[in-house]
Amino acid sequence: MSNSILPIIEERWSPRAFSSKSISKEDLNLLFKAAGKAASCFNEQPWRFVYARKEDTENFDRLVSCLTEFNQVWAKNAAVLVATLAKKNFEQTGEPNKHSWHDVGLAMGNMSLQAMSMDIYLHHMAGYESEKAIEKLDIPTDFEPVSFVAIGHLGDKEQLPNDLKEKESPKSPRRDLDEITFVGQMGT
Ligand SMILES: Cc1cc2nc3c(=O)[nH]c(=O)nc-3n(C[C@H](O)[C@H](O)[C@H](O)COP(=O)(O)O)c2cc1C
Repeated sequence: MSNSILPIIEERWSPRAFSSKSISKEDLNLLFKAAGKAASCFNEQPWRFVYARKEDTENFDRLVSCLTEFNQVWAKNAAVLVATLAKKNFEQTGEPNKHSWHDVGLAMGNMSLQAMSMDIYLHHMAGYESEKAIEKLDIPTDFEPVSFVAIGHLGDKEQLPNDLKEKESPKSPRRDLDEITFVGQMGT
């Protein structure tokens, strides 16, 4: 038994500098397929994806316009932008699906690891305007935006403004295991 975690997990990080290299429709579909293989509550598969490749200027710019200014600065250089959505209620019962966002997260975890195996990186974003996204992306009322994601190949960090250049690092700090794990009960 190996003493280390999978290299694609160890090496994953969230860059803001993306190269100008595009991502083919076929490769993008592999990413969506990996996302769709995730587990979900009652196999509801509540995830949906509205996306645009940079070549598709009109749709890409519409996605960019939903982001906060901070994210627009760098995310506009990604090869692909994706808005992830969650279906609010279960198809069968119409009851609220309290785990829909959880399951979108599982799907995106799958996507990020599939991407790593293809030398492609993801940068998730909470910095977007939800109401604007609902209107501009024509999202039906039974769905809600969860996140935006910038996808692309690694670029040169020199292209970033100075403040972002300093933040660009493959090694963000992580909490120790004894801070996040508890045997039996959590307590204080
Ligand atoms: C749901 C979610 C929302 C995030 N929102 C933003 C964002 O709006 N802008 C940004 O620059 N980074 C955003 N991040 C990236 C995190 O800051 C980053 O994942 C974290 O610092 C850990 O770094 P790492 O992914 O490189 O390991 C987000 C990440 C997640 C998972």
